[in-house]
Amino acid sequence: MARKKIALIGSGQIGGTLAHLAALKDLGDVVLFDIVDGVPQGKALDLSQSAPVEGFDGKITGTSEYKDLAGADVIIVTAGVPRKPGMSRDDLLEINLKVMGQVGAGIAKYAPNAFVICITNPLDAMVWALQKFSGLPSNKVIGMAGVLDSSRFCHFIADELNVSIEDVNAFVMGGHGDTMVPLPRYSTVAGIPLTDIVKMGWMSKDKLDEIIQRTRDGGAEIVGLLKTGSAFYAPAASAISMAESYLKDKKRVLPAAAFLSGEYGVRDTYVGVPVVIGADGVEKVIEISLNSAEQKAFDKSVSAVEGLIEACKKIAPALA
Ligand code: LMR
Repeated sequence: MARKKIALIGSGQIGGTLAHLAALKDLGDVVLFDIVDGVPQGKALDLSQSAPVEGFDGKITGTSEYKDLAGADVIIVTAGVPRKPGMSRDDLLEINLKVMGQVGAGIAKYAPNAFVICITNPLDAMVWALQKFSGLPSNKVIGMAGVLDSSRFCHFIADELNVSIEDVNAFVMGGHGDTMVPLPRYSTVAGIPLTDIVKMGWMSKDKLDEIIQRTRDGGAEIVGLLKTGSAFYAPAASAISMAESYLKDKKRVLPAAAFLSGEYGVRDTYVGVPVVIGADGVEKVIEISLNSAEQKAFDKSVSAVEGLIEACKKIAPALA
């Protein structure tokens, strides 16, 4: 069977980490792309030289030409600018929207059959724009953030309770911004919902609220610590879990920024919801029931994303 091809658009910190993870997991051959000539080639060579030690067979190459994306099965987009301390993800909208225009055109021309995972911020609006610019089917273009936000929530819970991460399952919906919606009712430790964990006194309500806020601020906390650039290990791991589910038809249920066409009462918008990812891309959007407080928080998050999408339409009227 021919090896799969994974193209990574953007060869910064996340791009390099994605390439390494894809190789270590034997997902296929990797093409690292960047408009900054030399960087993708240099990282590809460095990673290739780790293959004899690590023992992976996938070929890793670097390029600055869109034509080398041809035939990619999966494309992961990290191109664009990260925020700096004090900035919000939304401050990147105008500059990264232009980048999505170029990337979308490149994907449309050379890899129209790919499954595309977007990581660029502000995430939900950028994945919406990327789908429009590329013209790919909406079930083949998703945003990575739900897995990342849920993974952060998971880590904080496991750390606080001093239990194995293996037994923690945490879940965050909504846009990948300050309005994201961590859902304690749907987050469990060995099947016990966090809400019950609070009731039985294993974690205080104040601590849970603190963890929820820390999850919402998770990206900013890392930007503040790194000072130049943003998180890359956890975002890369999150995107790779989605790519793997698609390539191996695992049909994992993962929270993703997915295109909604009426689900949750939302239309023509990308926002974080649980989906099934398999060989057909997003095979199902799962509509969970929300209580009134959860619904209110989700609606607020959707409105924030819709506001950003409206801003995209003003900057790039072709998207309207
Ligand atoms: C993250 O959550 O780590 C990313 O969205 C990067 C950022 O700017 O926070």
